[in-house]
Amino acid sequence: MSDKKRQILVTSALPYANGAIHLGHMLEYIQTDIWARFQRAQGHECYFAWADDAHGTPVMLWARSEGKSPEELIDMMNEEHKTDFRDFGVSFDNYSSTHSEYNREQVEKIYHRLDEAGYIERRNIKQLYDEKEGMFLPDRFIRGTCPKCGSEDQYGDSCESCGSTYAPTDLINPRSAISGNAPVLRESEHYFVRLSDFEQRLKDWMGSGALQPEIANKMQEWFTDGLRDWDISRDAPYFGFLIPGTEDKYFYVWVDAPVGYVASFRELCEREGLDFDAWWEPGSTAEVYHFIGKDIVYFHTLFWPAMLMGARMRTPTAVYAHGFLTVGGAKMSKSRGTFIRARTYLDHLHPDYLRYYFAAKLGPGTGDIDLNLEDFVARVNSDVVGKVVNIASRCAGFIQRNFDGMLAQQLPQPELYDSFIEQRQTIAADFEGRNYQSAVRRIMALADEANRYIDNEKPWQQIKQEGMEAHVQAVCTQGINLFRVLITYLAPILPFTLHKAGEFLGRDLQQWQALDQALLGVKINTFQPLLTRIDPVKIKAMIEDSKESLQPATATGNEPASQPAEEDLTDEITIEEFLKVDLRIALITAAEAVPEADKLLKLSLDIGGESRTVFAGIKSAYDPAELVGRHTVMVANLKPRKMRFGTSEGMVLAAGPGGSDLFLLQPDEGATPGMRVT
Ligand code: 2FM
Ligand code: ZN
Repeated sequence: MSDKKRQILVTSALPYANGAIHLGHMLEYIQTDIWARFQRAQGHECYFAWADDAHGTPVMLWARSEGKSPEELIDMMNEEHKTDFRDFGVSFDNYSSTHSEYNREQVEKIYHRLDEAGYIERRNIKQLYDEKEGMFLPDRFIRGTCPKCGSEDQYGDSCESCGSTYAPTDLINPRSAISGNAPVLRESEHYFVRLSDFEQRLKDWMGSGALQPEIANKMQEWFTDGLRDWDISRDAPYFGFLIPGTEDKYFYVWVDAPVGYVASFRELCEREGLDFDAWWEPGSTAEVYHFIGKDIVYFHTLFWPAMLMGARMRTPTAVYAHGFLTVGGAKMSKSRGTFIRARTYLDHLHPDYLRYYFAAKLGPGTGDIDLNLEDFVARVNSDVVGKVVNIASRCAGFIQRNFDGMLAQQLPQPELYDSFIEQRQTIAADFEGRNYQSAVRRIMALADEANRYIDNEKPWQQIKQEGMEAHVQAVCTQGINLFRVLITYLAPILPFTLHKAGEFLGRDLQQWQALDQALLGVKINTFQPLLTRIDPVKIKAMIEDSKESLQPATATGNEPASQPAEEDLTDEITIEEFLKVDLRIALITAAEAVPEADKLLKLSLDIGGESRTVFAGIKSAYDPAELVGRHTVMVANLKPRKMRFGTSEGMVLAAGPGGSDLFLLQPDEGATPGMRVT
C-alpha cells in the first residue's frame, strides 16, 4: 500500500424512518464502520455520512394512524436511531435525514440538471387508485390474487407463493390494503428518467471495477433485458419533496434517498469546513463507497449512477453489497424471538461481542451471514476473551506488582515482535478487501502464538526463582507488546475494548503506523478487565425480550409496513403446534385508554368465570366505550407479559393493516365467554 493519504467517503444504506433498527441493519452498519475505522487507522481522511430515509407512503400512513405529523415522528426516530448507532460504536461523522433542507437543495439541483439536459420525460399513465382514501396505491399497498398461480392475498408487485412478478393491474380482484376497497384505474401525469440514455456510460462505469463480480453479472442481465424508463414521480398525497414547478407531484422516495448520501456529506462539509466540490465534482480524486444490502443493488448500480451522470457529478468509486442476516440458520422471526432489535441486544449484551462475531463471518461476497447464538457465545468467549484479552491479563499483574508498572527497556525476542508487525500489510489488505473473516483468522493465529510464548516462558514460575526478576519483566513486556499489536489490528472491530486497552497502556492505540516502535521503558496503568465472557443466560433473556417487545404490534398488525419481507407470515407450523394455542371467546367487561401509551387500550375480559387483563394495540381503531359488552376472541394461554403499565394476560385478535384500520374479531351470536375456539 502506498503512503499517500486518501480522501474517502463511506455510506451505509439509509434505514427507513418508520422502523426500529434491528440486527439485520446492524450487520451492514458494522461492516461499514469497520471499514471506515480501518481507513482512519491507516491515517487516511475518511468520513462516514448517512441519514434516515424519511419519505414515502408508509411514513405518511404511519403519521396518520398516530395522529401526529410525519416530521414529529421522523425526528423522534432519528434520535432513537442515532442513539442505537452510537451505543454500537458506529463512528459516523454525520447522521441526517432525507427530509432536510440540504437534501431538498441537492435533489432539486440534480433534477434541474437532468431536466435541462433532456433526460426527463412526462407522460400519462394509468394506475390503481383508492377512491375512499383519495390516493394512488403503491404496489405494496395493493393485495389480490396472483395472476400466475392463483394464490390469494398477494402483493401488487410480486407473489410470495410462486415468486412471479407482475404489474398491480394484472392482479385478480385487487383491493386496497388501506381501505379494503376495490381500487379503480385512474390516469395521471408521471415523470420518467430515460435510463437507456445512460446505457453506455453505465457499462463503462461497471467495467471500472466498481462492482463485485456477481453484481456485475447481474447488471449485465439487466442490460440484456433492456433498460426501462424510471418513474420518479408520485402523486399527492405523499410525504416527500414537491417536484419544482408542480403543485401535487412529489419525488419518489428512491430519488431523494441516495441523494441523501450527498446531502448528509454536504451538511458535514459546512459544519467542518470541508471542500464539498473536491468530493463530488467529476474528476474528483476522492473516493466514494456505498455499502448496501444485495436487495437494493438495482437502485445503486443503475438509477443512482445514472442520476449522477446526468447531473454532471462524480460516480461512486464502488458499491459493495452484502448478504442478508439469518439467525440460527433461518430468516429472523418475531415469533421465535430472533427478530432482535438493536436496543434489545444492547439491553443484554456488549456491542463488541456482536461486532467481533459479524467481522469473523464477513467476507467480500454477497452470501448470507448466519448468527448462530451458540457459536456466537463460543467464539467470542474463546477468541476475544480467552485469547486476546487473556494475554494482557496474564502479563499485567507481574508488571504492576513487581515492577511498579514499568515495562522493560528491551524485548527478549524482538524477532517475535517483528514477525507480528510483518503481518500488517497482509491484514490491512484483508480489511481493505472487506475480507474481515480472513483478517480475524490471521489475528487469532497470532494470538495463539503469543499465548504459546507465555505458556513456554511460565512467568508465574520464573518469578519464584532467584535472579529471574529482570527476565520476567522482559517476558511480560514482550507479552504486552504482542497484545498491543493484536488490539491495534482489532481496533476497527472492537472500539470499546480498544478504548479500555488504551487506558491500560496509557496511549491511543488506533494508528497502525505507531506499531513501528515497541513500547519499552514506559509506565503502564493498572489492568482492568477489558471484556468479560458472555453469559449464555443473557442470550436467553434477549430472545425472550425480543418475543415480548414485539408481541402487541404483531398481533394487531400495528408495526409500520416498511419491511414486509421481514415479517415471518409464511412460517409453517404443525397442527399440533396450532392446537397448543388456547383460543377462547371473551366478553369485554371494561376498556380504558392507557394514557402513557400511544397505541394501547387496557381491556378487562371475562372468559367464563375467570377475568383477564389484556393490553391491546387498538387505541387508534376503537373508542374504549364502544367495546364494552362486545364479545371477541383471545389467546388465553399466552405467557403473561409484564409491561410498564401492568401485566398483560393474553392477547385479543384483530385483523387489518394497523392504525385506525383494525377490526377486532367478533363471534356470531350465541357464542358465550369461555367457549373454546376450534
Ligand atoms: O431499503 C432500504 O431500507 C432503503 N431505505 C435504503 C435506501 S438507501 C439509499 F439509497 F439511500
Ligand atoms: Zn403466484
